[in-house]
Amino acid sequence: MPADAGRAWWRTAVVYQVVLRSFADGDGDGVGDVAGLRSRLPHLRDLGVDAVWVNPWYASPMVDAGYDVADYRRLDPRYGSLEDAEALVREAHALGMRVLLDVVPNHTSDQHAWFRAALAGDETARARYLFRPGRGADGAEPPNDWESCFRGPAWTRTTDPATGEPGDWYLHMFAPEQPDLDWSNREVADEMLDVLRFWFDRGVDGFRVDVAHGLVKAPGLPDAAGRDRRTEEHPGWDQDEVHDVWREWRALADSYDPPRVFVAEAWPARRAERLPLYLRPDELHTAFEFEPLHVAFRARPWRDVVDRSLAMAELTGAPCAWVLTNHDVVRQATRYARTQFPEKGTNETERARWPTEVPDLDLGRRRARAAVVLTAALPGVLYVYLGEELGLEEVEDVPAERRSDPIFWRSGGTDPGRDGSRVPLPWSGDAPPFGFSPPTRADGSPAAEPHLPQPAGWAALTAAAQDGDPTSTLSLYRRLLALRREHLAPAGPMRWLPTPSPDVLALAREGTDVQCWVNLGAEPVALPAGARVLVASAQVDGGVLPGDAGAWVQVADR
Ligand code: NOJ
Repeated sequence: MPADAGRAWWRTAVVYQVVLRSFADGDGDGVGDVAGLRSRLPHLRDLGVDAVWVNPWYASPMVDAGYDVADYRRLDPRYGSLEDAEALVREAHALGMRVLLDVVPNHTSDQHAWFRAALAGDETARARYLFRPGRGADGAEPPNDWESCFRGPAWTRTTDPATGEPGDWYLHMFAPEQPDLDWSNREVADEMLDVLRFWFDRGVDGFRVDVAHGLVKAPGLPDAAGRDRRTEEHPGWDQDEVHDVWREWRALADSYDPPRVFVAEAWPARRAERLPLYLRPDELHTAFEFEPLHVAFRARPWRDVVDRSLAMAELTGAPCAWVLTNHDVVRQATRYARTQFPEKGTNETERARWPTEVPDLDLGRRRARAAVVLTAALPGVLYVYLGEELGLEEVEDVPAERRSDPIFWRSGGTDPGRDGSRVPLPWSGDAPPFGFSPPTRADGSPAAEPHLPQPAGWAALTAAAQDGDPTSTLSLYRRLLALRREHLAPAGPMRWLPTPSPDVLALAREGTDVQCWVNLGAEPVALPAGARVLVASAQVDGGVLPGDAGAWVQVADR
C-alpha cells in the first residue's frame, strides 16, 4: 500500500479520471484497455496524481460508454480480464497511487441477466425494475410524464412474452438500454453491496457513484407536471430515502482497513440545501463540485463559486472535490476559447454555440492553464480529466458515423453529445494513432484505427512532444502538482489577498508561504512587492502577470 496509508488521503488528493477506452490501447484493437493503462501508469506517477478513477470497465454493450452495465463483476473483454484488473490495482499501489472505480447503481444494461429474465417474464426479476402498465386506451401511453435525461420519454413499452402483444412499460431515466432498478426491492440493495464487496476485496480503494441523487423514486411515480429536474424538485430524483442507501454503503466502506471511500456524482435541484445531506458524516465522503463547469472565465464569478463551495465544505466537513472538466462536458480549452458570457452557461449551450463562433484555442488553452493553477491551490480534492494535462481541445468535427453518444443519436444530431471530449489520447509520433495503439496486434496484423478519430494537429500536443519542454502544458501540470503536494495539500484554510486589479485573483493558505496569483484579465498587472514565496502564473520577468496567466508556475523568493 502507499506509504501514507491510514491518513485521510482523500481529503487532499489529485485524482486523475481515466476513460479507459480513450487512454491507451494495449492490444491494437483501437480501444483503450487495462493493459494500456498499466503500461502508462508511470506517466500518471510522474504527473503527480494520488489516485486514478477508472470509468466503468464492466461487461457492457457500450450503448452509453459502459454506463450500461451487463455484469458488475466482470470486465468487458475489450478492456481485459479480472486478472488484469487485479494487476492494475497492485501496480498502481506499488507506485503510490490509489484506484477508484465507477459504480452505476441507478440502472443496469438491458443485457444484464436480471433484465433479460425480467423481459422473459420472470416475476422475481421484474420486481427488481420499474415495470408499470401504461395509461390511456390499451395502455398505449407511458405510465407518467417523466423525460429521459437523454431526450424523449423515460419509458419504453415491452412486448408480453406469452402473447406477443404490447405489454407493460419500464422506466429508464437515461437510454432505453439502461433500465432503472427498483431500490425499494431489498434484493437490489443487497446485490449492490455485494458488488462493492467484490471490488473492495480486490484492493480497490473506493468508488465514484454514478447519479447518486437517483436510485429512489417518489412512491407511486407521480407526474412531474412540467417540473424541470435540473432546477425544481422532481419525483424521479433526490428522494430522502436514498440516504438510507448511502448510510449502508458508508458502513461497509468503514468496515475495511484502510477504509474505502466514495465520491458522489449528485445533481440535486436545490443544490445548496440538498447536496450537504449526501455528505453527512455517515454517508458519502465527497461529492463532485461541478460549479466550475458552468462558470465563465471571469474573476468575480470564480471567486463567488469558490466562496460558495468552501462555505459548503465548512458546513459539511467534507472537502470540495473540484471538477474543471469531465467526460460529460466540453473540454476546458474549448469552453474557454469562445466568448465568456457572464451568465451561467450549460454544457448544452456550449455545444449549441459551436457552429456560430470560431474558437480561439490558444486563448482557451492559456485560460485552462490559469484555471488549473487556481484550482490546484484551493483546499480540497482536485480531479484531472484525461488529456487536460496535454491541453487537448474538444474535437468538434467527429463525423456523425463515428459518434457513439446516445445524446447525439437521441437528439437527432442537434446536440453533438460527448464524443468530442473522449477522443483517444496522443502519446507520441507525428500522425494518428499517436502511440495510442501499438503498430500491430498479437497476430501480427495491423492495429485498428482508434475508436474516434484524432485531429492531425495533436502531433504538437503528444505527451512525448511536451515532455522536456518547460513551456508545455504537461510541464506546467507536473510542476504544479509537485508544488501542490509539497506546499498546498498539507496547508490549512485559504483567504483571498488584495490584488491590484479586479481581474486578478490571489490567495494564501494557512501554514505555507506559497501564494497563488492568477490573472484572468487581458491586461498585464504588476504584482505587489513583499510576497516571499509565490506560485505565479506568468510569462514575463519582473513579477508581472500577463493575460496568458498559467503559462508557467514557479516557486520563488521575492
Ligand atoms: C453520469 C455519467 O457521468 C454519464 O456519462 C452517464 O451517461 C450517466 N451518468 C448515466 O449513467
